This record gives sequence, C-alpha cells and structure tokens, in this order.
Amino acid sequence: MGILKPITEWATSPWGQSVPIHIAWFLIWLAALAGLLFLIVHAIYVRYFAKAEEYADGGSRMPEAVLPARVPRHSLAARLFHWIMAASMFTLLVTAFLPRVGVQFDWVTYHWIAGTVLTISILFHIIHASFWLDFWAIWPDKADLVDAGKRMRRFFGQPAPPPRKFAKYPLENKLYHGAIIATGLAAIGTGVFMMFRVRTIFFPRNPYLFRDMTWGLMYVLHGLAGVGLIALVMVHVYFAVRPEKRGITESMIFGSMRRDFYLSHYDPQRWQVNHVRERPGAD
Ligand code: HEM
Repeated sequence: MGILKPITEWATSPWGQSVPIHIAWFLIWLAALAGLLFLIVHAIYVRYFAKAEEYADGGSRMPEAVLPARVPRHSLAARLFHWIMAASMFTLLVTAFLPRVGVQFDWVTYHWIAGTVLTISILFHIIHASFWLDFWAIWPDKADLVDAGKRMRRFFGQPAPPPRKFAKYPLENKLYHGAIIATGLAAIGTGVFMMFRVRTIFFPRNPYLFRDMTWGLMYVLHGLAGVGLIALVMVHVYFAVRPEKRGITESMIFGSMRRDFYLSHYDPQRWQVNHVRERPGAD
C-alpha cells in the first residue's frame, strides 16, 4: 500500500480501518501535462530534427494501375464503432473530470450511461474484430520488431538498412492499441462494479457487495485508468490532426485513403488490399 499513499486519498471506514477512497486529483493535471509535453516535444522533433522518411523498396513495388484510386481501409461498421466509442470516451472524460476541477454538475448519471455505451461498443468491437476483421493485424509481429531495431539504430545515427514500409498498422499504432486495451478494460471492469454503488436501471444498488478496502482499491484503479486515458486521448487526437497523418484520419471518416498515400506508406505485401482492380489488358 505504501506506493499508493502519495497518489491516493484515504479515509477512515465506519469500522475504524484506514482505506483508500480514490486517486489524488492532482493526477488529472499531471496526466494532462504529460500529454501536453509529449506533443510539444514530438512536434518540435518533427519540425526541426527528423530526417525525411526512407523505406526499403524490396518487394513492395506495385503498379499503380492495379489499385483503385481510393484504397478501402475501414468498413462502415468499423467506423461507426470508432466514432461511437470516441463519443462515449469524451463524455466519460468530461463528466468524470470537470467536476474535479471546479465545474459542478450532476455528472454520475451521464457518466454511467456513457460507460454503458462504451462497454457495449467494446463488446461489439471484440466480436467484430475476432470474426470479421483480420484479428492479428493489430498485434506486433516479427517484421515490426526487426524494423523497430533498424529505426532505433538509425535514430541514434548508427548504420542500419532502412526499414520496410508498414503493414496496415505501424508498430506505434499497435503499441497504442495495447495501452488503450489495458486502460480501457481496467476502466470498464471496475466501472461495471462501481455501478452497484449508484442508482442505475440495471440492478439494485448494493454498496455492500465488497469490503471497504476492495471498493477503495477499485475506485483507485478506475481513477488511474481514467487519468491514463486523459494522456492517451490527447496523444491520439494530436496524431489524428497532424498533417502527415491526414490520409489515415480521412480513412476513419470516409472509409478509404488515396492510392498515392497507400503506396508511399504501406507495403502491399504486408497489407494486402482486397479490392484490387483488374490489371488493364489482363484476361
Ligand atoms: C474513459 C473512461 C472512464 C473514465 C475517465 C472514468 C473516470 C471516472 C472517475 C474519475 C470517477 C470518480 C471516481 C472517484 O470518485 O474515485 C468515476 C466514477 C464512476 N465511473 Fe467512471 N470512468 C470511465 C469509464 C467508466 C465506465 C466504462 C463505467 C461503467 C461501465 C464507469 C462507471 C462509473 C461509475 C458508476 C462511477 C460512479 C461511482 C460513484 O460515484 O460511486 N466509468 N469514473
């Protein structure tokens, strides 16, 4: 419990036991500051220090003519999930943290409703990604790790061949997705139980479901996941609005990206596009 002390608030239970009740709220500012610092440092690095992107060409050439003008990337179902999830995530962040920084309103009802929407949307996403999408596309593979080694050596000025172009999701996106899984599932797993502490339409209120210490640790985990999500969401939105990522953001809105964007960033062998146009003249 010692390591929790500086980042949590404690109270004495009716039975005289000292229990954590939630995170210390300065963590909200710390997370926002960490997110802000990341994007300032990243923006300065890209603007003044980063070298032009360079990729190995081996095997990744594909004649433009075999591709449609717009390369499909996200189905309508995947986009609807993304935006419903995003709307519920923003609602959760705003309803959870505005009251902690001085904007008082009756937040709990909006919060558990948005929490329910997020939970259902994530359940849909897990089933959709497992059976309809390419489940393994979002997990790091061997080529990612080999290329990450090359990129790291080049970053530190050591000799290394250029990395390959990316599969559908670059390693950074895969790692980000992993961080969102950890924080998102922690917030959802604890949030569902925390609904027993407030009045909802799902089950009768039962604050005696767990001991005070268990409830306290659950609130702390919920809060830690929540502040983690402040920084993660800031970083995500920052990348979404960066000019060089516009093609990706566009595809999350319209479902597809321009052919030249696809060809300049992705390796057609690592991300095979289903709707390949018939080669002109081929029989
Ligand atoms: C982005 C995700 C989320 C964030 C940032 C977040 C943040 C928070 C925070 C900071 C609190 C106050 C806790 C405290 O006083 O210690 C809270 C309370 C609560 N959260 Fe969340 N939460 C998230 C997701 C969820 C989800 C998915 C659910 C439900 C499935 C949920 C249900 C609740 C409930 C019921 C409470 C009220 C507990 C009470 O007042 O006793 N939350 N949330």
